[in-house]
Amino acid sequence: MAREADQHPLADVGRVRGGTQDHSVTPLTLSLFLWERERCCYRLTMMERRGHFGFAVLECVTLRLCPPAERARLLAQATDIFFETANTKSFGSAEAKHAFFMRWLGHYASIEPEGFLFALTPGGGVCGYVAGCIDSFSVGSKAIIADIPYFTPAFCTALAAYPSHFHINVMPGSQGKGIGRQLTARFVRICAEAGSPGIHVVTGASSPAVKFYEACNFKRLSPGTWIGGEHAVLARVTSVASRYCLPPRGIGNCGT
Ligand SMILES: CC(C)(COP(=O)(O)OP(=O)(O)OC[C@H]1O[C@@H](n2cnc3c(N)ncnc32)[C@H](O)[C@@H]1OP(=O)(O)O)[C@@H](O)C(=O)NCCC(=O)NCCS
Repeated sequence: MAREADQHPLADVGRVRGGTQDHSVTPLTLSLFLWERERCCYRLTMMERRGHFGFAVLECVTLRLCPPAERARLLAQATDIFFETANTKSFGSAEAKHAFFMRWLGHYASIEPEGFLFALTPGGGVCGYVAGCIDSFSVGSKAIIADIPYFTPAFCTALAAYPSHFHINVMPGSQGKGIGRQLTARFVRICAEAGSPGIHVVTGASSPAVKFYEACNFKRLSPGTWIGGEHAVLARVTSVASRYCLPPRGIGNCGT
């Protein structure tokens, strides 16, 4: 009869890591080992980036897991960041401004709360967010992509292997500190756990964001005939490990 340990989802990994003999690396031991290793790696990464021990671990929470009483406040702060970082600064009318907001943020918050992430400072303020869509081509996401002109049938067919997509913004004073990278890594993990094989992003062909996405393991796709040359389309699979480890679920103060 199989031992209980053999039936654990990590049992096979334990045997591989334990070597060719049965070293009895139990799933529990292995889980603790991986937990410690990831936590350690995460802390070292943060220290390396900041050059000292005093880095406060960023909190990252999805809208779905956010306490209901906090949602309006966090969304209002994300909205401020959205308009502050948007290239479009003037709108012909209040309706036009609202439509712009709904297209790039509002639909995501109401339709895909599990793909909407806030990066919170230790004081609880929003310093960045991801408005993500885990399956852009599902029936449930229709309201999101129907409002974005480049989601043509040809584009959707070309990007079929990368069904997830997202928009990311970090508060100007907080950029260049690794927050965008952490948010992206967290979104990649959410997509992977939801079974999505890949993620695509669209930005301006000459936008500095192209370099950011490349630093996050996205590769630029040739536009072909399915999108205009003023856009850059980048994509990555969800199984490629991020350069910086994230702590496992429940470690530190990450809320997802
Ligand atoms: C693009 C953006 C989300 C990046 O977030 P960030 O927190 O500033 O980025 P990070 O500090 O996590 O940087 C991660 C990596 O990307 C690189 N990177 C980020 N912005 C870059 C830029 N403008 N040019 C070149 N590289 C850049 C960093 O060098 C870093 O690489 P490294 O770790 O090897 O040094 C943020 O700058 C932003 O919100 N910009 C304005 C809005 C925007 O362009 N959003 C994207 C719209 S499609």
